[in-house]
This record gives sequence, C-alpha cells and structure tokens, in this order.
Amino acid sequence: MRILLIASAYNGLCQRAHVELEALGYEVSVTLALSSDFIRKGIAFFQPDLIICPFLKEKLPKDIWTQKLCLIVHPGIKGDRGPSSLDWAIINGETEWGVTVLQAAEEMDAGDIWATETFPMRKAGKASIYRKEVTNAAVRAMLQTVRRFEKKDYVPEPLDYTNPDVRGELRPLMKQVQRQIDWANDDVETIIKKINAADSFPGVLDVINHQEFYVYGVHKENRIQGWQCLFQNWQPGDIVGQRHGAILRAAVDGLVWISHLKRKNIEYTPFYKRMTSTEKQHGIKLPAATVLGSYLDGVPELPIDPLDSSAGKTFREIRYEENNAVGYLHFDFHNGAMSTEQCRRLLEAYRLALARPTKVLVLMGGREFWSNGIHLNVIEAAQNPARESWENINAIDDFVLAVLTTDSKLTVSAVWGGCGAGGAMAILAADQVWAREGVVFNPHYKLMGLYGSEYWTYSLPKRVGPLKALELTERALPIGTRKAKTLGYIDAILPNDYVNYLEEVRYKAEALATASQYPKMLEEKAFIRQRDERLKPLADYRAAELLKMKTNFFGKCAPGQVNYHHARYNFVHKIKPAETSPCMVNNSFQDVSRLNELRLSLAS
Ligand code: COA
Repeated sequence: MRILLIASAYNGLCQRAHVELEALGYEVSVTLALSSDFIRKGIAFFQPDLIICPFLKEKLPKDIWTQKLCLIVHPGIKGDRGPSSLDWAIINGETEWGVTVLQAAEEMDAGDIWATETFPMRKAGKASIYRKEVTNAAVRAMLQTVRRFEKKDYVPEPLDYTNPDVRGELRPLMKQVQRQIDWANDDVETIIKKINAADSFPGVLDVINHQEFYVYGVHKENRIQGWQCLFQNWQPGDIVGQRHGAILRAAVDGLVWISHLKRKNIEYTPFYKRMTSTEKQHGIKLPAATVLGSYLDGVPELPIDPLDSSAGKTFREIRYEENNAVGYLHFDFHNGAMSTEQCRRLLEAYRLALARPTKVLVLMGGREFWSNGIHLNVIEAAQNPARESWENINAIDDFVLAVLTTDSKLTVSAVWGGCGAGGAMAILAADQVWAREGVVFNPHYKLMGLYGSEYWTYSLPKRVGPLKALELTERALPIGTRKAKTLGYIDAILPNDYVNYLEEVRYKAEALATASQYPKMLEEKAFIRQRDERLKPLADYRAAELLKMKTNFFGKCAPGQVNYHHARYNFVHKIKPAETSPCMVNNSFQDVSRLNELRLSLAS
C-alpha cells in the first residue's frame, strides 16, 4: 500500500511516522504543503492509496479530500478543535490529553473520527509534550487507522458533541493577551505554565527594559527561596542573576529562570541583503544573556558545580550523578544545539567525571535531544559566522575525541531524545549506544551543506560499514531504532517510558560495571583503539574532515551543492524550502526525469 504523508514541515512527528510506516513495509513518500498546487502535484506523482497528514497547519483544498481519503492527525482529544490545542491543554491544567485522527472535511478538525489515543499530561513545555507524548500517541493512532483502512469495513465515527465520550470543544487561537505574564500578580507556577504553553512557538511576549521579547525555556528555582526576594528588595520581574546564558527573574513568590529570548519586530531580509550582526542576533532565538548584552552588566553570575548532584530545582545544563560504580553525565542543552562555550563546558565536566572512581560512564544527553551538533543560531548571530562555525566544530570535536580516547572506563551513549547531524555522529564515540524505542536519528549533514566532522568518517563506517555509511549520509533520511539496530548503528533498544527507560539504563550500566569480563572488555577496547590508531590516526580523520569543513565554512560553494551559510540562514529563520527535498520522495518513484519534469511544471 502506498501512503503519502502531507506535512507543513518534515518535523519530528512526520519523520517518526515515515520510519514507522516504512518499517511495516508500506511504500511511503512525503510532500510538503508548500501550496495547493504543490500538494496536487505530489499526489499525482505518487498516486497514493491513502493520505495521512501528521502535521498540517494549512487547510487541505476540497478537491483533494473529496477524491481521496485524507486523514489528519490532530493533537487533541475527541472533539477538540482549533489551532492552539496543546496550548489550551497546558494553560487549563488538563491532566489527560490525546491525539485524534480524523478525516479531512469542510470544517477544520470536524471530520469523522478514525482513531483516538490519550496520555497523562506532564508538566513540561508544549514542544516537549509534542515530541514525546503526542508523537507516541499519534503513531499508535495512525497505525490503528491504517489497519482499519486496510480492513475496509471500518465505519469512522461522526463527531457528535452529545456523546459523553466527546470531551473536547472548539477553541480559538491563543493570542498574546491570553499568554501575557502579569509579573506583579502571577505566581511562579502560573508563569511556568504560561511560558510552557508557548514553548517553542510562539513564545510569550514580554517587556524587559522597555523592549519587547518573546521568552522561552522556563525553569523553576527553589534553591534560593522566595523570601530572599523580599529581603533583597527585588521587585517581581527584576533580573537578579544569570547562569550560562539564562537569566533569573523574581516573581511574587519565588524565582524563575528564562533561558532564551527572541527580540520582536526584526524583519527578515533575503539572504543577499543580510542584516548587520547586531540587528541579526535579536531576530532569532538566542540565549537570553546574548540578547540582553550589556543590560546585564552587574547582574551576578551564579555558578554551579557540574558534579554537584544535590537536590533542588534550578537551571543547569550539565549534571552528574553516580551510583554503584557508574557515572551518569547529563547534558541538556536547549534544542540539543551545542555552542563552542557549551562544548568546552561539557568537555570540562567529562574530564571531571572521568576522574571519578567509576567503571562505566554513561553519556545521558538531554530530555529533549541528545545533541543536534553545532549551535546554528549562535553561529548565525556571531560577528563572523564562518569563524564561529570553525570554533564550534573544533570544540565539539575535542569533546568527541575525549570520549573516543577514554581508556580508563567503558563508555555508553544513552539516547532518550533524538539526535541529528553532528550529535548523531557524536553518540558513536562511546563503546556502546543504547536508545529509547521511539528515537529518530538523522545521521547526515548534507541538507545543511556540510561535509561533517565529529570523527564520523571513523565511527560510522566502523559500525555500519562503508557502504551503509555512504547511504546514510547521502540519502539524508531519518532512521528509527529498529533499522538503526539492524545496521549496527546502535546496540540496544530501550523502553519508551521514561521511568522504565532510566531503570533499564541503570540496570544495563551496572551489569557492565560488575561483569566478570569487565577487565577483558577494557583490554579489548584499548587493543582495538591502538590497532585502529596504527592503521590511521584519529588526527588524520579529523584533519581530512576539517579540510572539507573549512571549504564549507570559508570557501566557495560548488555548483549544485547546498550552500551552508544559506542553508543555516534559512534554518534559523525558519524559511520554508522551495520544494520537498528529493530525499523525502519515495525511492521507487525517484525517476529523475519525472522529478525534473515536475520541478519544471512547478516553476512555470
Ligand atoms: N542549532 C540550533 N538550533 C537547532 C539545531 C542546531 N544545530 N538543531 C535543532 N535546532 C532547533 C530548531 O531550530 C528548533 O527550534 P525551535 O525551538 O525554535 O522550534 C528545535 O531545535 C527543534 O528542532 P526541529 O528541527 O523542530 O526538530 P525535529 O525533531 O523536527 O528535527 C533535526 C531534528 C536534528 C533533524 C533538525 O533539527 C535539524 O536538521 N537540525 C540541524 C542539525 C544540523 O545541521 N546541525 C549542524 C551540523 S553539526
């Protein structure tokens, strides 16, 4: 059966739907909803049996859904309608939410229901819930829908608000007035809820020093108690501290960290008319301290020891804990993006963790992503993006090198969040790679116009063989855990549920640490490393990769290749692509002449 995925963007949910359906043997292709005509041509080209829209913000034209069954994945419970579904669920403190698959119809989100799934709500940002709970529920509901469609006898349920089972309602778009923080009255819990409901889009519009910013990335602080605010004469809204780019603000009953800001009212300019770097840095989401600059002069930096594992909520990107001869290094960088400074801090923490008397060191990554490689937003905002790219890639390489050359312990990458580009190569530096079942990997750099580094030319072929390494990096497609395990890209698949996942990580890591063969494993690891080093030194892999990266950063882009600076600009400014990337289009239909014909007809 041929299934066409129509989506506003090839986002995490769309990628997961793609890998899950392909793993079940369906022929899958993707068309981005760039225009009605574009969708029509995508359908004409692929001739699907079924159309699924895992993430669609646009309305499907009537002629499409009247001719072919189109199923929309809506991130809400039965009966919920409107564009701010999860935002309202968070603001209203819903304890249970869901995903519903419904047939496209005249009225948005009001078509017949094919499947619905629910999940308990977690106190977290909207994007976080979307990436985990919504994505898992959507995949379950989508697969059930496909089974029902194949059986051919399923009668979908019309939306009927008199049915007690239908708890949702039509809700309007949530506007900034409804999101606004009232610093004089809102308590910490309310502020967190408001920022969470708008994270990562659109952010909550707020005023700092008479200027408007969208705020993102909220964290509670309960190491410094609320009464200290009064004692210090702090006013609600005041910025009273900073740490690693985040700012600490006083509320009526405590303190909250805000990690990122985006300045309002900066207009995008086409690539060829780039803004100056000062203007530029405010138009994109960046660490709060970078955006506020000298306004924070005099605001104290509140240091934190990465190895301090004492309890208490606060903002900390790097955290270490240890138990039964196993060390766990968590590094939760916003969006998995790792700037030069973050890579350097991570390397420092890694070295401290190595010095601990443990046998196994587990690299835990973050709750959202393990890593997505170099920090494209920070690079975009730099005075000299090419130079900053160079610094950043070297800093991440230094960290990867430290992991690759660790001979005193066994190392593990435990991947709970997804990872892409450099992050998807960095995980391979560890001796073993374990991943949550629902993780999607993007082990390629091509779409960003980069050759890539992070010693991938050593680690990837070593695990999957040179041919598969080429296929993964050139086809530039996401892979799910089952395929990743079959290829040898990862070693183990762990549960999708966080508590069980953590338990399994601990169980497996402790089993490694206490294994009778531990000394032999360590010996073997040293042997392989020395053998590989004799064959080709790691320095040579790095030098060859960086030579190509230097051209990507500083040189001229070869005709027909993706220009890194252009691709990065489009990525950080969220500019829609002109067409669906050919790698997303189903292989069996990659008839080049047909694709070219299609492109020509679209251009005309
Ligand atoms: N630098 C800065 N921001 C990054 C980033 C990076 N390397 N990778 C991801 N992000 C941001 C996205 O802009 C997005 O920001 P938002 O909070 O404003 O929405 C957020 O992380 C989530 O990314 P998104 O693309 O929506 O997630 P996804 O699950 O759909 O896709 C990836 C994951 C990894 C495929 C995709 O983010 C990607 O291609 N990232 C770029 C990777 C890269 O080229 N790195 C540089 C080379 S090493």
